[in-house]
Amino acid sequence: MSKSHIVWVSRPLFPEVLATLAPYVEVRAETRETKRTPEQLHDKLANVDGAIVGLGDRIDAQVIAGNRRLRAIANVGVGYNNLDLDALTVAGILATNTPDVLTQTTADYAWALLLAAARRVSSAERWLRAGRWRGGMRFDDWLGVDVHGKTLGILGMGRIGQAIARRGSGFDMPVIYHNRSRLPEATERACHAEYVDKAQLLQRADHLVLVLPYSAENHHAIGADELAQMKPTAVLVNIARGGIVDDAALAAALREGRLAGAGLDVFEGEPSVHPALRELENAVLSPHIASASADTRRAMAQLAADNLLAALGYGPNAGHPPSLLNPHALNRRRGET
Ligand code: GLV
Ligand code: GLV
Repeated sequence: MSKSHIVWVSRPLFPEVLATLAPYVEVRAETRETKRTPEQLHDKLANVDGAIVGLGDRIDAQVIAGNRRLRAIANVGVGYNNLDLDALTVAGILATNTPDVLTQTTADYAWALLLAAARRVSSAERWLRAGRWRGGMRFDDWLGVDVHGKTLGILGMGRIGQAIARRGSGFDMPVIYHNRSRLPEATERACHAEYVDKAQLLQRADHLVLVLPYSAENHHAIGADELAQMKPTAVLVNIARGGIVDDAALAAALREGRLAGAGLDVFEGEPSVHPALRELENAVLSPHIASASADTRRAMAQLAADNLLAALGYGPNAGHPPSLLNPHALNRRRGET
């Protein structure tokens, strides 16, 4: 079969996943992830039919302008604030993400950060590796805060938030949550979660996990005012997006003991991390890896590939990508052809 469609892949994925594209389309895969300027992205998207991109690739009106061949953008990631969905829809370009496949793995990681920050795992390990465990440790050294039995707060109660909540039962934790819209009662019961307003959430939570999508209105949803309402014994976990937390205000609260600890997988302006956070022993920091288990990252890559093929008219879901974000783009396309 002659391959009439070309796809660009912005960073290396699993070779076995790329191999599933190869029978249908010509694949141009980058060999490493780099930060590209809008001009560079624009050029990469010229004369291709589809692309698999990641959270570091900002796909907006400027980078698609004049790229008339482009019909599909498959984002590897559930969050898609890197895509200007309106601009893509107007241009008739289908956009997809990778929901569901990462829910459980990402929920596990929220707990990893919560437990690590509460029990000072990273800090203690740094101390041990520095050769400072030489005997004479005091019985009251390395005291952390408990997790079990405490009230778990969750801001953002989508699929991942619910999966985090369900794990709370195993730690005997009452769960409270706030979300843009309240969940159906049956879902609340299944998660053992109680809906509260945001102020209640901040004040009552012994530990707080952030799992809300990034949007302009969620920018600095947790800033100095919100941090001031939290308990000084609380741990804050952010696995959502950089920019949801005011990182400078968080660093100040951690430094001044107004918060016990933080577990952070995402940062404002990542890959740079606020220097004040990097100085703090009570912050556990990781480089945006909440979905990074071998099985899940492979499943995300495969789902992105499946979405892209379907958007370009191949495979069992031809024309109907499983995780389509902008169904209106389909009408737009039909209208044109
Ligand atoms: C990761 O941050 C994702 O949105 O999948
Ligand atoms: C977001 O959509 C989630 O899966 O929590």
